[in-house]
Amino acid sequence: MYIGQQLADDRFAFYKDILPGIRDQIVFDEEFNAWFVFNVRHLNLLVRDERLLANTKASLKELPLNADTLQVLEQFYSNWVMFTDGDLHKTLRRRVNTLILDRYRNIDYRWGPMDKQGDFSELYAVPYVYNILAQLIGISEKDVALLIKASEQINSLLLRGYLTIHDFDAVAQSIRQAYQLVNDVDSRYRDSDRYVGNALLDLPSEQKYPLLINLVSDGFAPFVAALNFLAYNLLTHPELEQEADSRSDDICAESLRLFPPFTTISRVCSEEVQVGDAHILPGQLVIFDLYSINRDPECFPDPDCFNLANTERAYSFGAGKHLCSGNPLVRKALGAVTKQSGQIYKYELVDSKFINLYGSTDMKLTIKKNTRL
Ligand code: HEM
Repeated sequence: MYIGQQLADDRFAFYKDILPGIRDQIVFDEEFNAWFVFNVRHLNLLVRDERLLANTKASLKELPLNADTLQVLEQFYSNWVMFTDGDLHKTLRRRVNTLILDRYRNIDYRWGPMDKQGDFSELYAVPYVYNILAQLIGISEKDVALLIKASEQINSLLLRGYLTIHDFDAVAQSIRQAYQLVNDVDSRYRDSDRYVGNALLDLPSEQKYPLLINLVSDGFAPFVAALNFLAYNLLTHPELEQEADSRSDDICAESLRLFPPFTTISRVCSEEVQVGDAHILPGQLVIFDLYSINRDPECFPDPDCFNLANTERAYSFGAGKHLCSGNPLVRKALGAVTKQSGQIYKYELVDSKFINLYGSTDMKLTIKKNTRL
């Protein structure tokens, strides 16, 4: 069964029409050479299994790449937290976590007054995330925007279904360009008070540069999407305005459950694993579909509805040792925005469009001033 393609084409049709017919909620996709996992029970059985490793870029070595390209790619990806395992993963994660945990409590999460109509993401969500990431790293919003643009350049090639050798050369080239940019940012902020407290500052550049790109890259898009979904849920549930202050954490958690910005996390199998009838072989991927897992009817009653009674923990930040490092910061930010949702409630929805990609979701919202006020 070709699951990956169907999830990318029409997630809702898959979720409504096909998923209920899959008995074990774990199913093999020949095209992806991957097992797809759709329920909480199997996620919990597998996500902490030591035989499932991070989905690294180990296969790069098998490609006929030129030595320069291979060296740049290997150095870059061996410093990318999500793609590492074992002691290296622990070291990188500690570095990133030190920066986030040192700083996230002192960030100013104010949402600010809203007075423009139009695209919610462009007008409000994106500038807000630039601002939070700028405070986290200790650089300007303009420089965060430049780093994000550079990382999007790198990722845009990697997201293509099929890569030629020429594409890999282009990825390596975009990594070199991003490094030049980080080098420039790094030298300009070297003496600034805010940046000096940055725990990544003292690392050698070959570790610091990829980690800085990693942070803005992993942090930006899902954070913006989470704000878009939060605004959508608030505006489509006017009754929440009464509870926005007292139940801000529950509102954010439920918004993230219903619309996880990252829909898949993946691992690669290193030794045979048997779960139920599924016989997972070395080299095969295990892909956890967080969207369906968050709507597992065995854990979340009436799973397609926004329901603050959903007390079960959801999986939008993943689970196990790769659990999102940014999650304390994101929770604080979404909570602060919810508490200030009086600003959002000055508006109504003109249009909303769910954006479904294979590994992520987002929402395009158009808002206008609420004429009933
Ligand atoms: C709503 C916003 C966000 C969502 C939904 C989200 C989701 C996720 C998920 C699902 C993973 C797990 C990947 C896996 O298990 O393979 C992850 C990992 C990660 N996230 Fe986030 N993330 C968000 C925001 C952020 C932010 C703001 C940052 C940093 C500033 C960040 C940094 C990271 C890092 C460094 C990892 C890798 C952790 C590891 O492999 O140990 N994320 N994120």
